[in-house]
This record gives sequence, structure tokens and C-alpha cells, in this order.
Amino acid sequence: MESRAVSPARKQHVVCVPYPAQGHINPMMKVAKLLHAKGFYVTFVNTIYNHKRLLRSRGSNALDGLPSFRFESIPDGLPETDVDVTQDIPSLCESTPKYSLAPFKELLRRINAQDEVPPVNCIVSDGCMSFTLDAAEELGVPEVLFWTTSACGFLAYLHYHKFIEKGLSPLKDESYLTKEHLDTIIDWIPSMKNLRLKDIPSFVRTTNPNDIMLNFLVRETERAKRASAIILNTFDDLEHDVIQSMQSIVPPVYSIGPLHLQDSELGRMGSNLWKEETECMDWLNTKAPNSVVYVNFGSITVMTAKQLVEFAWGLAATGKEFLWVIRPDLVAGEVSMVPPEFLTETADRSMLASWCPQEEVLSHPAVGGFLTHCGWNSTLESICGGVPMVCWPFFAEQQTNCKFCCDEWEIGVEIGEM
Ligand code: UDX
Repeated sequence: MESRAVSPARKQHVVCVPYPAQGHINPMMKVAKLLHAKGFYVTFVNTIYNHKRLLRSRGSNALDGLPSFRFESIPDGLPETDVDVTQDIPSLCESTPKYSLAPFKELLRRINAQDEVPPVNCIVSDGCMSFTLDAAEELGVPEVLFWTTSACGFLAYLHYHKFIEKGLSPLKDESYLTKEHLDTIIDWIPSMKNLRLKDIPSFVRTTNPNDIMLNFLVRETERAKRASAIILNTFDDLEHDVIQSMQSIVPPVYSIGPLHLQDSELGRMGSNLWKEETECMDWLNTKAPNSVVYVNFGSITVMTAKQLVEFAWGLAATGKEFLWVIRPDLVAGEVSMVPPEFLTETADRSMLASWCPQEEVLSHPAVGGFLTHCGWNSTLESICGGVPMVCWPFFAEQQTNCKFCCDEWEIGVEIGEM
């Protein structure tokens, strides 16, 4: 039951706006729940596409909220569809700044016109939804930007413009994608030691000067300077030096993680866009401590059919028990299929699923290792579960996370090129 101590209409009102991808919605939901637990009235703004998806994956009353925790939605500007797919990230990065700002401003106007709802006092927006700053400034309320990446990933993004100034990005042509060039040492980012060009977030290694993601990140990190504060889902003991070295570049930065250890009366209000298959928890309950390898590449990673097969036989060859989550759209342009012989050979020691309650899995005593793409949420959840990682970074700042996991924190080993 919701606390009635303060009437909803008299609370401080925060509007939370995640970037519309799973790895961003999850941590924003946790921030929103924490703020609600601290007495805030919360409006959580998904895109219309994700709002509908959440209703499909979690049930028609999943977004009913509470009197002081409401859900709203705005368009993302992409063509409408009811198919549950991982949306194209560059397309979203192009469309949201263009098409979501006006509806967002209209939403704020509508909220502020309602007598029974407290006026909006603050916006907490994803760092990749910085168009919301224009709305906050127009309304005269502070905005906190939530960068859901690691601090090391964010610091590297903050230096993207320097890679361009130094002529290191975009690459002149594909011949610069050699191992030798990608091993070029990058020693001029304060507090980042022994980095190679290949450890910098992936978008810097484009050959296209008009690359959407490179230009998007340059623009969003520049706009971050207009925020009242920046929050990161990390903790000081893990990334102290990196957090310190960005304080002089951007508004005050606060590390507020790891968020997943927190919970509130809104615990049942989940944010998974895919339907969780909970049978794997029953399966894990039958396994010995630290005996199971858990494999999951998050919500965006795609691989080739050949790579999927390679992973399958690699897992078979370990002789270990494993839980492998294969998203239906994991293989680019094809149905994700593993070889039937692999299924027969490993049937007595494996469990396959298409989506699972990952935080629960990673804190289960049976899980002894995690083969991961190094998405920041997965990495933090693994750290919190005390599970060592085998790293196969896919894109964005996952390469940077991988480098820090393997060399700085010594909690992972990297799989090389496949
Ligand atoms: C990515 C990464 O956060 C980041 O590297 C990049 O900036 C863009 O977004 P994603 O690839 O989905 O997101 O990975 P991750 O950060 O690990 O987030 C996935 C989230 O979904 C995690 O919170 C994880 O617990 C959850 N999840 C994933 C499930 O609950 N079940 C699953 O089966 C898979």
C-alpha cells in the first residue's frame, strides 16, 4: 500500500524519461522507484511503442501505477508497429530529438494543468534524451541527466570530439581497421591508462564522417554540460579516478549505483520488454553452487548464424552445465537456431530460454560464470552477484567495460575475434 502521509497533490513531482531501450529503461525504473520511496510523485515517460510492449509482456494492468507513480507515453518518431523487436538504435537516435520534444512539452503542459497532480519540479532524463533539456529550460525546472553507462564509458564518450580533432576518427578508410592500428595507445584521456583505440566505445571506429552514432554522442555529451547534475549507475570504489576526472568537464557528477541492490514498495512494477521465462529459476534450484555457466548477450547484440553455432559448440566442449538465453532476434536477419545435434548432445546439462529474470539469475548461488557482451547493467549485476565474466563485447561502451573488467578490476577474461 502506498504511504498516505503526504497527499499526492502536495508532493515534489519528478518526471523520469528513459532512452527507449531495455538497458536504459531498467536502471531508470530503479531511479524512479527510489525517488518514489523518498516521497516524490513520479511520472515515468516511455515511448508509445515501449508502453504497448510492456503491456504485452507484463499484462494489461502492469502500467496502472499508483496514485503518486504514473506512466505516460510520447512518440519516438519511428513507423508504428506492434511486433516485439529490438528497435534500430541509430534510427531512434535520429528520430527522438526531432519528433519527441514537441509531444514531451505538450505532456508537461497537460500535467501542469491538472489540479490533482502536483506541478513538475524536476526532470530526470537519460543522457541520450537530452532534447528534454529544452523542455526543462522552457519550464524553468532543473534537469538531471542519467548516463546509464559506466563512468569509464562516459568519460571516453566525453572525449569523442577530441578523437575527431586529432584526426583519429572517423578512420580514413577500412585499411585502418587492422589490428596494428586498433592497438594504437590512447594515453591522453585523464585517468584512463593503457587504453588502445579498440577499447574506446565502438562508434569512434567508423569510416563514415556522417556516422549517426558518432555525431549523436558528440552532440549529447556537449549538451550534457547544460544539465544541473549528472548521475551514473556506478560506485566510487570501482571508478573513483575516472569519476573525479570528469568533474571538471561536466556539471557535478554523482555515482548512485549499483542501483540493483535497492528495492521499494513498487518492486512488482517491472520493466522487462520481453516476457520472462521463470522456469530457469526452478532449474537453477536443482544445481550445485557455482556449477552453471550463464550466457546472455543482452537486448541489442546481434551476431551471425556462424557465431551462434561457434558459441554452441564452445559451450558443448566445456562439459559444464549451462543456462543460455537466446533472444528470438539474436541472429541478424534470421531465426536464432542452434544445431539439432548440439541440442541432443547437451540436453541433460543445459537449459535454453529466450528471456530470463537476469538479476535473479546472477544472484543465484548455482551460477558460477557469465558469458556476457559487457552491457553495463549486465556487468554491474554480475559484479553484485560476485560472478566472474567471460567477455565478448559487441558495441557502444561495451569494449571499454570489457577492458576495465579484464585489466583494471580483474574480474573477466576476453574472448578474442571469432
Ligand atoms: C546496452 C548497454 O547497457 C550499453 O552497453 C549500451 O550503452 C547500450 O545499451 P544491453 O545491450 O541491453 O544495453 O545490455 P545491458 O546493459 O546488460 O542491459 C540489459 C538489461 O536487461 C539488464 O538489466 C538485464 O538484467 C536485463 N535482461 C537481459 C533480463 O532481465 N533478461 C534477459 O534475458 C536479458
